Amino acid sequence: MPPREYALNPTMTNTPSRAPVRSIAVTGGKGGVGKTNLSVNLAASLAGLGKRTLLLDADLGLANVDVLLGLSPQHTLADLVSGRCELDEVILEGPNGMLVVPAASGRRHMAELQPAQHVGLVNVFNDLQRDLDILIVDTAAGITDSVLTFCQAAQDAVVVVCDEPASITDAYALIKVLSRERGVDRVQVVANMVRSPAEGRGLYDKLSRVCERFLGDVSLNFLGAVPQCDWLRMAVQRQQAVATAYPASPSARAIAEIARRAARWEAPTAPRGNIEFFVDRLLAHGQRQGAAA
Ligand SMILES: Nc1ncnc2c1ncn2[C@@H]1O[C@H](COP(=O)(O)OP(=O)(O)O)[C@@H](O)[C@H]1O
Ligand SMILES: [Mg+2]
Repeated sequence: MPPREYALNPTMTNTPSRAPVRSIAVTGGKGGVGKTNLSVNLAASLAGLGKRTLLLDADLGLANVDVLLGLSPQHTLADLVSGRCELDEVILEGPNGMLVVPAASGRRHMAELQPAQHVGLVNVFNDLQRDLDILIVDTAAGITDSVLTFCQAAQDAVVVVCDEPASITDAYALIKVLSRERGVDRVQVVANMVRSPAEGRGLYDKLSRVCERFLGDVSLNFLGAVPQCDWLRMAVQRQQAVATAYPASPSARAIAEIARRAARWEAPTAPRGNIEFFVDRLLAHGQRQGAAA
C-alpha cells in the first residue's frame, strides 16, 4: 500500500490534471565523479524538506541506485521495457519517503535501447498517477543518446565535476553536445569531492571559462560544492544515503544546502519542447490557467 500522499486518486485516473513536476537530471560526462551519490542524497534531502520526490535510475546498463540505498527491487525498468509490468509496479520507497524507480544492472539490451525507446521512457511518466513535486534523474556517464535525451527532457541539468583534468574535459564535451544537439542552454554545476570551498569554486571557474570561450550561448550557474567526506564512503558501505545515515556530516550538510537551493526553483508553467518529463501535466496546467483567465 503506498503512503497516503502518493496514493492513487480514483477520481483522476488517466486525467493528467496533477500539478507540474520540476525535473532535474544529474549528469557529468565522466564516471565515478559522484553523480549517483549526489542524485540519491539530493532526492533524500528534498524529500526531507517535504518535497514529494521521485528518483529515476537512468543509468540503464549499470544501474546502482538500488544498491546504494540497500533496496531489493521486485521489478525494474527492464521489466517495464519488456512489457512485463507497469511503471507504478516498479516504484519502491526510499529514505524520507522518497520514491525510487530502479533500473537493472548488467542487462546489455537496456544499455543499447534505440533513441525512440529513450523518448518512450520519458513519456511513460505521463501515465503516472502520483502527486509529485520533483523528479531527480541519475544518468549514466558519457555522451550517449540516453544521457542526452534524459538531460534534454529535464528542466535542469546538473553537471557534476571533480578535481581531475578528465572530469573537466568530459563535462565540457557533454555541455557542448547538449547545447549543440539538444538545445540545452542552461547548466547547473556541482563540484564534488572538494578539499576546500575554494577548490570547488576554482573547478567551476575553470569549466565556466572554457564554456564561455567556445560555447557562448550556454549559461552556467554554480550550484554548490560537496566536500570529500569519509562519512559518505561509510554510508555507501552501509548501503544508506549519507543524508539520512549521517545528516550532520560535511557532505550531507553540503547536499542539504544544494537541495534547499533546488527546492526554491519554480515549477515550470509551460512546455519547452517536444521531449519533456511530465509534459502532459504541463499541458493540462496551461489549459487550466487559460480557462481561469
Ligand atoms: N563527496 C564524496 N566524498 C567521498 N567519496 C565520494 C564522494 N562522492 C562520491 N564518492 C565516492 O565515489 C564513488 C563513485 O561515486 P558515484 O556516485 O557512484 O559516481 P558516478 O555515479 O558518477 O559514477 C562512490 O562510491 C563514493 O565512494
Ligand atoms: Mg552512477
